[in-house]
Amino acid sequence: MQKPAERIDHLLSRLGYCSRSEVRDLLREGQVRVAGELLRKASAKVDAALVWVDDEPIDHPHALYLLYHKPLGKVCAHDDPRAIYQDFPLRWRYRRPSLSSVGRLDRETSGVLLLTDDGDWLHHWTSPRRAIPRVYRVTLQAPLRGDAADILGAGTLMLEGEETPCRPAAMQRLTDQEVLLTLTEGRYHEVRRMFVALDNLVLTLQREAFGPFVLDDLPAGQWRELTEAERTMEKIP
Ligand code: URA
Repeated sequence: MQKPAERIDHLLSRLGYCSRSEVRDLLREGQVRVAGELLRKASAKVDAALVWVDDEPIDHPHALYLLYHKPLGKVCAHDDPRAIYQDFPLRWRYRRPSLSSVGRLDRETSGVLLLTDDGDWLHHWTSPRRAIPRVYRVTLQAPLRGDAADILGAGTLMLEGEETPCRPAAMQRLTDQEVLLTLTEGRYHEVRRMFVALDNLVLTLQREAFGPFVLDDLPAGQWRELTEAERTMEKIP
């Protein structure tokens, strides 16, 4: 989709290149071109797709859509020394709108995490109405009780401090102490709290899938951009 033209000083500061006043220096030094032509005026309105700085096209002029393998020990908050955002290019920390995760994973949870700076897209994938399936691989401290799958699947499990029961969750037993659990919502520490309610404790937790998105062989701490087809897919398998 064609984006409206934007002032060059606004665009480059919003994309994390430098402050608005520093854009004037870039312009004066002849470092900014639009469709190959030198640009001099900070107030000029430009099509972001045609802007080059320092002989390179500008970095993701429109939006970012990423699939990240969140490692253990990192947090989804922005203002934390252990923030996941340290695994991305430094310039992206200064972008507006800011890059945000699509939902959150706990510090001690690894696995699939999407990130974007496109608010509509983020809303699409977090809206409770869409009930996106999230698949977790869980290892437990103690052997599972025999009625665990029935309780989790019933849609009646109440967690402490909550006013509505958890949505039904599908559990597949892999061993006595390892399961795959599919949730269609994302409450705070939900998987851990569900197993506490079943008199057990989660030892390790990895998100294997979020809707159609899976890690494949993406190593922990690494990310890749989504393809056009992935970004625009509407249907959830
Ligand atoms: N449930 C949890 O308990 N933690 C997560 O990170 C995700 C789901």
